[in-house]
Amino acid sequence: MKYKRVYFVFAPTSVYIIMSIPAFFMKLFSALYKKNIEILKRYLWARKIVNQVRCEAEYRFTDADRRNYRTCVLEYAYNDRAVFVHVRFRKKADEAEYARYQQACGIATGLKVTNLRKDGGYMAFALLNDHYLPILETAADDKKMMIGTNLTGAYFWDFAHNPHMLVVGPTGTGKTNFLMDLLHGLKKNQIDCYCIDGKGVDFVSVKEQFKSYLRATPNNKEEVIAYLSVFYDMMMKRLAKMEERAVGQYFKLGLKPVFVIIEEYTDVVMRFTKNERERWDNYVSSIARLGRATGINLILTLQRPDTVYIKGELRSNLMMRVVLGNADAMCYQMAFDTQELEPLSLGQAWVRQNTVLDTIKIPLYEELVACGN
Ligand SMILES: Nc1ncnc2c1ncn2[C@@H]1O[C@H](COP(=O)(O)OP(=O)(O)OP(=O)(O)O)[C@@H](O)[C@H]1O
Ligand SMILES: [Mg+2]
Repeated sequence: MKYKRVYFVFAPTSVYIIMSIPAFFMKLFSALYKKNIEILKRYLWARKIVNQVRCEAEYRFTDADRRNYRTCVLEYAYNDRAVFVHVRFRKKADEAEYARYQQACGIATGLKVTNLRKDGGYMAFALLNDHYLPILETAADDKKMMIGTNLTGAYFWDFAHNPHMLVVGPTGTGKTNFLMDLLHGLKKNQIDCYCIDGKGVDFVSVKEQFKSYLRATPNNKEEVIAYLSVFYDMMMKRLAKMEERAVGQYFKLGLKPVFVIIEEYTDVVMRFTKNERERWDNYVSSIARLGRATGINLILTLQRPDTVYIKGELRSNLMMRVVLGNADAMCYQMAFDTQELEPLSLGQAWVRQNTVLDTIKIPLYEELVACGN
């Protein structure tokens, strides 16, 4: 991200307004040329925030030195989701001083601030436009796919490295909507997606988009286990081929990844008898263990990550974790081993891959489709 320097001129605010006139016209022309007035709106919004951030630094946190220069270096960058701030006070300031500055900026602008962190000699934080909308696009290739929008832009699930996903969210938090977005993205990239549906009502309208779909009921338990065993067999065949050609990854054979969604996992599993459960667990754990090399990816959704259903080995292999919306502390504990996460609103999720936690916004499926993306 390219940061711009904020200049501290020892002058009234009117001078800043005059100084920003050329930039305003440049943005206006660019907006008119691209027929996108959002560019201008975003610029004006960011300028307003940057001015407040500058005032905080100028009037409350720094002094002028002997030559009337401010004892502070301030930089900013922005997009429609946030203004990113880099700050360095020239006098010796400890982290608490920067934290005070970060909080003061939050109060002055009325925006949420992210945690303070070090970034190349600066202290950095971002002021979040909480009302930003998710990007209405899908993007996928054979190794990663876009699953939402975070502060810096499109957020990708790197399924080549974190092949299996756990999606958790109490009822009504958008699990099905999220899966429909995923399905849409995969379909656009001609990646096959299969589904075992433990609930049976939510996917009615998109059933045809799956390569194949099975509704799990109390009466077809054997069929459900047999359905999963097909992916186990597919995996074993891929492994045998890989061994024969002495390659370590499925894509080196020109094969595509395959996704198996198990919607409302708890509903599917809780009906099984002990014996059925053993066979099922055997298939699921093997796929979870060998899926990365063979390109068989699992996506499990449930309302709570209950350890009765998601046992040790399976759980540790579900490396991509998504907790949607307004979940409780227990959900965060089970999914991320921490309770100290704030619940989010509808359309947002905490996500973790490679131990990095982040929040994303997820588009509404109907809007995504309506945009033709
Ligand atoms: N990303 C989103 N942005 C805005 N609204 C959303 C989003 N996702 C879901 N919703 C709204 O929330 C409602 C419930 O979503 P959804 O059916 O996906 O939840 P769910 O978690 O699957 O619920 P259940 O557990 O009952 O199946 C939807 O009808 C939709 O209007
Ligand atoms: Mg649902």
